[in-house]
Amino acid sequence: MSYRSYPKLELHLHLEGGAPPAFIRGLAKEKGIDIHKIFDEQGGYAYRDFDHFLRVYEAACTTLQGPEDFRRLVLAVLEESAANGVIYLETFLSPDFCGGGDLEAWRDYLGAMTDAAAQAERDFGITLKGIITCIRHNGPEQAKTVARCAVETKGDFITGFGMAGAELMGRPGDFAYSFDMAREAGLRITCHAGEWGGPDMVADTIRDLRPERIGHGINAAKDLALVDQIAEQGIVLEVCPGSNVFLNAVESWEKHPIRLLRDRGVKVTVSTDDPPFFHTTMTREYDMMAENYGWDEADFAELNKTALEAAFCDAATRERIAKKLEAAQ
Ligand code: HPA
Ligand code: ZN
Repeated sequence: MSYRSYPKLELHLHLEGGAPPAFIRGLAKEKGIDIHKIFDEQGGYAYRDFDHFLRVYEAACTTLQGPEDFRRLVLAVLEESAANGVIYLETFLSPDFCGGGDLEAWRDYLGAMTDAAAQAERDFGITLKGIITCIRHNGPEQAKTVARCAVETKGDFITGFGMAGAELMGRPGDFAYSFDMAREAGLRITCHAGEWGGPDMVADTIRDLRPERIGHGINAAKDLALVDQIAEQGIVLEVCPGSNVFLNAVESWEKHPIRLLRDRGVKVTVSTDDPPFFHTTMTREYDMMAENYGWDEADFAELNKTALEAAFCDAATRERIAKKLEAAQ
């Protein structure tokens, strides 16, 4: 059995990381950009490890050169997500790839993406919200520029602020200014931590950046006192098991700490991260949890409930999605 048509909410997906390889190849051809080195013989993305992944990701992004490319990207990603049963999606958007942090350029990109999201909602029945994300390895100064873009374009579509990129560069506190600025403007906060960093990185992120949600957070499982703290504070983890296994952040589905975290009372949700890069989809994530953990519709209904409560959306959207879930689940 496959969970393809089962309704799903997904809170952690990097928009550019959702680009099918054929989509990026098409743009490269249109623009005469030679990026054949980032593909393997089967046409998939090719990289050796996480750092190399980030470089290949950035090379793929060089083909995304204007608002029109991002309009097409949003439509391609949402069509694929909807085909995997996703009815509500939050995606990380990086002004670094959309005009480099220039506010007026960012507004143009955002306009195109917002239009595409509205079209996809009509055509595929999927709702999208955007979380503006600074890129850690671009440093704290660029993060401030990105946070300003977030504050200036916060609204019905842009609802959150976060940070991705090379986790081991710098410390969370280096980015506190940007996170404070975003939080004070009313943006909801999430941050990648504990995918590559240890429990100390998760603890510092919680202390210095005060996120409501953490991207991954899986290495918190190495410190049970920290796990209990996360559970008590009600911080939600955006867990991406297929990504973690593919990138060797954990050894296998069997050894993945998501069950330990959940059993100890942590609110967990499940996402794909960068689906074509990790050869996954939301359907595959659900099918693998069913196969490896014996999870069934009752477990998945709980994941959906947690994700809906943790979603960075307004009350009206939450209610609408709740009704949709009720009808489909
Ligand atoms: N992790 C961290 N940074 C990223 C990722 C990811 O999976 N994808 C794009 N930027
Ligand atoms: Zn991620």
